[in-house]
Amino acid sequence: MQSPIPAYLARVVSQVQADVGGAVADYIPELATADPEHTALAIALPDGHRYLAGDADVAFSIQSMSKPFTYGLAITDNGLPAVLDKVGVEPSGEAFNEISLDASGRPRNPMINAGAIATHSLVHGADSAQRFERLRRLYSACAGRDLSVDERVYTSEAATGHRNIAMGHLLRSVNIIDCDPVDIIDGYFRQCSVEVTVADLAMMAATLANGGVQPLTGEAILDRHAVRQMLSVMTTCGMYDAAGDWLSVVGIPAKSGVAGGIIGVLPGQIGIAAFSPRLDRHGNSVRGVAMFERLSDDLGMHLM
Ligand code: DON
Repeated sequence: MQSPIPAYLARVVSQVQADVGGAVADYIPELATADPEHTALAIALPDGHRYLAGDADVAFSIQSMSKPFTYGLAITDNGLPAVLDKVGVEPSGEAFNEISLDASGRPRNPMINAGAIATHSLVHGADSAQRFERLRRLYSACAGRDLSVDERVYTSEAATGHRNIAMGHLLRSVNIIDCDPVDIIDGYFRQCSVEVTVADLAMMAATLANGGVQPLTGEAILDRHAVRQMLSVMTTCGMYDAAGDWLSVVGIPAKSGVAGGIIGVLPGQIGIAAFSPRLDRHGNSVRGVAMFERLSDDLGMHLM
């Protein structure tokens, strides 16, 4: 018998396509060239089955969806206590690009830009290139294919990311970053520019759902404790100043990116990825949020 899943996912995609709310991110000029009508949805299961719908072959930059994975590698490299010394785990309730530091200068969590920049600096590597290469390999191992940087997005963000560059220097001034902030920011921009599709992202999410073991290759990429920490901060901080609203309505640990992607993870059950470039005022994809709401509702995926 044919699986009913592809037709269901295609229906969810078509149901949100009338929604033209929100706006494509333009503070990174290259992102403004995205086709706002693109809409895609993918799910992947811990047994490796993957189902795709809509514009599933359209590539876009991973942006902030890279942040939990970088956090996982920082924990693997340093141990959790050392990471907690530099980056907190409290939701900031503020926008993703806010300078949300606590009294000791620690970014409040690793999902906002300040915390993600600090987290990037904790990844081991002799230099910026090596640090980034280790991250690229981690993302690729989770996706199950070799991922690369969209150089146009990278160049565009590097040329305009003055706020992040300033944040790097600020974090260096309070000793949260202890190496050259220019190198760290460059690596952070590269990390955000890695090109993915919803098929890649669903498999990355399914790797987390599967306790850090890639469903197709069987490779143990991240240990269980790192994954637990990653999912914890995704739950409380992954959707920024909409995190409470998201958790109560959708109820799935998740992370969004400004190119329009959202990943969601239900431990032991499923990895989900949605994509559509128009964003709401929090920087989360409008159609992506709508697709997750439908999945959660239709399939009873809310954690609670
Ligand atoms: O640093 C930035 O502003 C971007 N590279 C990433 C921000 C982002 O994806 C926020 N998420 N919705």
